[in-house]
Amino acid sequence: MGDIERTEFNVGGTGGGAGASSAAAPSNADLSARLQPGDGDAELSLRPKSLGEFIGQPKVRGQLDLVLGGARTRGVVPDHVLLAGPPGLGKTTMAMIIAQELGTSLRMTSGPALERAGDLAAMLSNLMEGDVLFIDEIHRMARPAEEMLYMAMEDFRIDVIVGKGPGATSIPIELPPFTLVAATTRAGMLTGPLRDRFGFTAQMEFYDTADLTDVITRAARILGVDIAGDAAAEIASRSRGTPRIANRLLRRVRDYADVRADGRISLDVARAALLVFDVDGLGLDRLDRAVLDSLIRTHGGGPVGVNTLAVAVGEEPTTVEEVCEPYLVRAGMVARTSRGRVATPAAWRHLGLEPPVG
Ligand SMILES: Nc1ncnc2c1ncn2[C@@H]1O[C@H](COP(=O)(O)OP(=O)(O)O)[C@@H](O)[C@H]1O
Ligand SMILES: [Mg+2]
Repeated sequence: MGDIERTEFNVGGTGGGAGASSAAAPSNADLSARLQPGDGDAELSLRPKSLGEFIGQPKVRGQLDLVLGGARTRGVVPDHVLLAGPPGLGKTTMAMIIAQELGTSLRMTSGPALERAGDLAAMLSNLMEGDVLFIDEIHRMARPAEEMLYMAMEDFRIDVIVGKGPGATSIPIELPPFTLVAATTRAGMLTGPLRDRFGFTAQMEFYDTADLTDVITRAARILGVDIAGDAAAEIASRSRGTPRIANRLLRRVRDYADVRADGRISLDVARAALLVFDVDGLGLDRLDRAVLDSLIRTHGGGPVGVNTLAVAVGEEPTTVEEVCEPYLVRAGMVARTSRGRVATPAAWRHLGLEPPVG
């Protein structure tokens, strides 16, 4: 295991395993407080709270129902779960639902917050039996933390090295059985050993328009917004297959309805508002269109490397790769090839251009 520079986390009170209450203060890596309501997180009130309330993703829901139900029947903690998919599809929501369905508490952290193995050790040693540990963006976790996680996932045990150099000693810590739920926008970036330790990987897919219409109708009800059915469907069809975007567009359209109309969202109001906010007929936003524009007008349709595209649109390559590209690929606008990204004929036509022959 790698060096641990920080050893001040609490190791007392955890050796006894289950039930031993730990008095350790939460570490900086502990982001669980973010999950408490009342912090003005508009997303929070819109998050479905149970598997039954969760709209869409029938496959993932069915699979998870079995994984959780099987564990419940046998009276054990469920296997570790990996949630993979583009941003905004409901990974964090699903992690919260898993803890809810299990009737246990959720501890939350994220890959970038786990810079040192000690950060992870602090989280792990605070777990109670059956807890769900949620690690968001797990592909961005530092290597020493990842290596500690292997043993924690497999054997519910970690070795903590205290001190440095010849005087360093390794203290084994037993962990209570827990379930790791991890989320990633880049499943391909996970190392083999880490991926192998998940008992189940849920691949979240983009939502179809019917499901997003339900998401919007539900959100409108919660927010107390009066919206026509065809308006909800219109917003849904322009939400890039993503519930987070559907909810955001609903809020912007509501602004428009309140300021420029009588507060009710009709189809005309929805269309006019989406025009103001630069959301085109396919739901592509400014960044999506900038990527297509650079790909086609500057690079003749490709192939172009993702780094070149990112520089051209003034974004991080990871943003282009994780946020823009998955939807452009799924919408049939961009193809990934070994030599780079290529615009499809549909992309040319979307920009009002004739695709080159051949
Ligand atoms: N299946 C769903 N049904 C209704 N709303 C959803 C669903 N999935 C996600 N949302 C909404 O979209 C928002 C983003 O979801 P989130 O779980 O944060 O996505 P991710 O973690 O994958 O980026 C949530 O606040 C929630 O309101
Ligand atoms: Mg999330």
